[in-house]
Amino acid sequence: MSPSLATVSYIGATILFILSLGGLSNPETSRRGNLYGIIGMTIAVLATVLGPRVGAAGYAWIIGAMLVGGSIGLYAARTVQMTQMPELVALMHSLVGLAACLVGFASYVDTSTVFQTAAEKSIHELEIYVGIYIGVVTFSGSIIAFGKLSGKIGGKPMLLPARHWINLIGALVVIYYGYAFLQAHTMADGLLPLAVMTTIGFLFGIHMVMAIGGADMPVVVSMLNSYSGWAAAATGFMLSNDLLIVVGALVGSSGAILSYIMCRAMNRNFISVIAGGFGTEGGTPAAKGPGGEGAQPAGEVVAVSAAETAELLREAKNVIIVPGYGMAVAQAQHTVYEITGFLREKGVNVRFGIHPVAGRMPGHMNVLLAEAKVPYDIVLEMDEINDDFPTTDVAMVIGANDIVNPAAQDDPTSPIAGMPVLEVWKAKTSIVMKRSMASGYAGVDNPLFYKENNRMLFGDAKKMLDEVLVALKA
Ligand code: TAP
Repeated sequence: MSPSLATVSYIGATILFILSLGGLSNPETSRRGNLYGIIGMTIAVLATVLGPRVGAAGYAWIIGAMLVGGSIGLYAARTVQMTQMPELVALMHSLVGLAACLVGFASYVDTSTVFQTAAEKSIHELEIYVGIYIGVVTFSGSIIAFGKLSGKIGGKPMLLPARHWINLIGALVVIYYGYAFLQAHTMADGLLPLAVMTTIGFLFGIHMVMAIGGADMPVVVSMLNSYSGWAAAATGFMLSNDLLIVVGALVGSSGAILSYIMCRAMNRNFISVIAGGFGTEGGTPAAKGPGGEGAQPAGEVVAVSAAETAELLREAKNVIIVPGYGMAVAQAQHTVYEITGFLREKGVNVRFGIHPVAGRMPGHMNVLLAEAKVPYDIVLEMDEINDDFPTTDVAMVIGANDIVNPAAQDDPTSPIAGMPVLEVWKAKTSIVMKRSMASGYAGVDNPLFYKENNRMLFGDAKKMLDEVLVALKA
């Protein structure tokens, strides 16, 4: 492929990526957005592989790597459960970071590049130093995020004493060695500063994500998304690949915007979250695990049956459904859709209230409801629906916990204090559907369960909703 055709293809791919991001911002256009992204990526890969910078000798390596990587990706995409998506995304971010590191080291030891001026060489070395640093922080941070999201590492924040000092000293050492790296006369001289910085970056990534816990994880997820974009952009600089720079910047900046949105949704200050330890003490710990082993009951709860739930729904005029992570675990969205359709046919006004951090990834609930074909116009954001609870007959909470916890408003010592929540307790009756009294992701007790107007429907969300549907139709 001629250089000009490769450039034109890159511009085409860039436009398709921008259209893709635009499409993904709305559920109705998201499929088209996805398609633009797939076409853009296919063009980008073809233009790179067939482009002027790859010689015939490289094809065997590239095709081999594509076959191995493509097969692993295909297998992972086909087998991963919807509830494991956030972990998979975290793992993918770690690979982008690792790629940036490897490309950085490879570009440094590659002696084939000829620089016209000393300044050009210094700029290239600066790109390498910064690129490896962003890459390694993304790599280790994403591995820890993967561990936390998959439950392999405890969700509680690990707060080292003097952690801010540790971070500051680490940053100063990285800057000092950066200077030493740029001053190095031989490759051997440069490798030591590079190795020290990589080690510090690796430890910093671990430390940064370990210090963030509980309900603040959404910010970490979106922040690492942003980092992976900047790592890709840094790789683009190192390889002088314009497309990678543009695409990396697109991902980096959209991830940064998402982090901002997540912080606003959690009523958190970005710096406080990143510094870690924000709102990590206090609150009433709750039982862990199905069955509620070790629970300290904080009051009486009123349990109801599926038939009683159906009765409450049948008598209601206004119903708001609040889905959470448990609905995703139970894969109950299709039954939710059927119940919604049945009630709407009977003239009940059914709507959905979506919390921005419900589930385990941004937009998790919207994706599930769209998959079940729930009409978009009855799916409302938290801010759009929160004022309507006092005039609602039944608020049905399906596998959600932290996002409907009144302690966020009432208990200033709670780890989730200040986080905006869906005020389901203001409805005439709220029904919480979950398997036990166990806590949600943040690990705190939920006073909603003990409120006088609250009912608990214990059991797997899919199984219980199936029973509710049968009872409704009876
Ligand atoms: P959670 O607070 O995690 O509560 C989910 C509840 O679902 C659990 O209490 C669990 O109780 C119940 N559950 C689990 N499996 C179930 C099943 N098969 N059937 C019925 N219920 C089931 O979820 P949420 O309210 O959606 O809040 C999200 C939390 O995750 C927030 O703290 C948020 O900060 C955090 N988080 C979010 C993200 C993003 S980006 N959205 C990323 C990481 C973390 P039982 O065990 O008793 O059934």
